[in-house]
Amino acid sequence: MDIVVGVSGGIAAYKSVHLVRILVKAGHDVTVVPTEDALRFVGAPTWEAISRNPVTTSVHDDVAKVRHVALGQGADLVVVAPATANTLARMAAGIADNLLGTTLLAATAPVLVAPAMHAEMWAHPATQANVRTLVERGVHVIGPDDGELAGGDTGPGRMSEPEAVAEAALRLLAPQDLAGLRVAVSAGGTREPIDPVRYLGNRSSGRQGVALAVEAATRGAAVDLIAANLAGDVLALAARPRIRIRPVATAAELSAAMKEAAVTADAVIMAAAVADYRPAQAAPHKLTKEDGILDRIDLVENEDVLAALGAARRDGAGPDGQILVGFAAETSADPEARRERARRKRERKGADLLAVNLADAEHGFEKPDNAVELIGPDGEVVAEVAGSKRRVAAAVWDAVLSLRR
Ligand SMILES: Cc1cc2nc3c(=O)[nH]c(=O)nc-3n(C[C@H](O)[C@H](O)[C@H](O)COP(=O)(O)O)c2cc1C
Repeated sequence: MDIVVGVSGGIAAYKSVHLVRILVKAGHDVTVVPTEDALRFVGAPTWEAISRNPVTTSVHDDVAKVRHVALGQGADLVVVAPATANTLARMAAGIADNLLGTTLLAATAPVLVAPAMHAEMWAHPATQANVRTLVERGVHVIGPDDGELAGGDTGPGRMSEPEAVAEAALRLLAPQDLAGLRVAVSAGGTREPIDPVRYLGNRSSGRQGVALAVEAATRGAAVDLIAANLAGDVLALAARPRIRIRPVATAAELSAAMKEAAVTADAVIMAAAVADYRPAQAAPHKLTKEDGILDRIDLVENEDVLAALGAARRDGAGPDGQILVGFAAETSADPEARRERARRKRERKGADLLAVNLADAEHGFEKPDNAVELIGPDGEVVAEVAGSKRRVAAAVWDAVLSLRR
């Protein structure tokens, strides 16, 4: 797992050297993001040697890799230890003028803070209010412990011991319940060329498919992501060691790539929006009004990729089978009508699960949120989930796992 350890400027920074060591020894890829002040306590060479990763503090380092957000986006967990009163205040206010600040704002993974400061600073209403704000936002807090503080004082403010911080951190990591599985996920929308500059396409951004891929990789699966025309910022979210990305453009390319990936896949999810039809002929040159043929495009039907995967799949149940999941965007506001269409579609395509999502003004295409009902093998609704596409992805993988069992 990818863990970011933020270190701010307190004496307890030396304790985090041991924390990083524990996390690295447990097999995690740890990147340390110190504040400038933290480097006055423990220097960059120590962090680099212990974490085996480069260490920078500024948003202006490694700009080509958009490090200021990439670190947070790619993290499975962020731990801030020690968290100074200053850094807690900056977190509560969302200040982003150093690499730790931008990383924390870009992170969607769980965040754990281990405060460390003098007892008076900890007890101050400002610090207490900041911690309350962070907790309300879902940040986890460990400590501080009561005990000996820098300068001979005692009281609550001492950073929890590295072993305890590591244990709390590892508890927050996603379960590795998909470890050992290979999965194939399609994302995005296909484009069927009319001529070299025009195409028939759809509004799918690929965010739901990417969320499915990222969730699977986070939970330990090896993922083939068949990516149909994803924008750079969406594709960047999938840049993880366990995700192999295969870009495709047309329905035919997507079909070929999915079939190839499906051969070895334990689960296959078709989240891409595939064109049902394509122009019978793609003109080799840009068509103009003078050509007189732009007012009419002859179409031919594309292969039904989900049905083809359904026909070729291994039986769903058990460890040797393959679970197949389809997605269907529906615009009907009547939930029972949506369910009924989804039941028929699931059967027709030979899928185990069909995720029906309502594509309206708030949900579905190009939106961060989705609302999905999962129709199971007996036509029943096995799960209903609304919220972020990542949350929907988690529910889909939970349903896949319970079918495998
Ligand atoms: C010797 C020394 C020890 C310090 N220890 C702490 C500490 O344990 N906790 C804290 O909140 N601030 C402590 N400070 C103050 C912080 O270093 C200061 O607030 C700094 O601006 C924090 O910056 P940062 O949060 O960006 O790392 C200490 C300062 C010095 C000089």
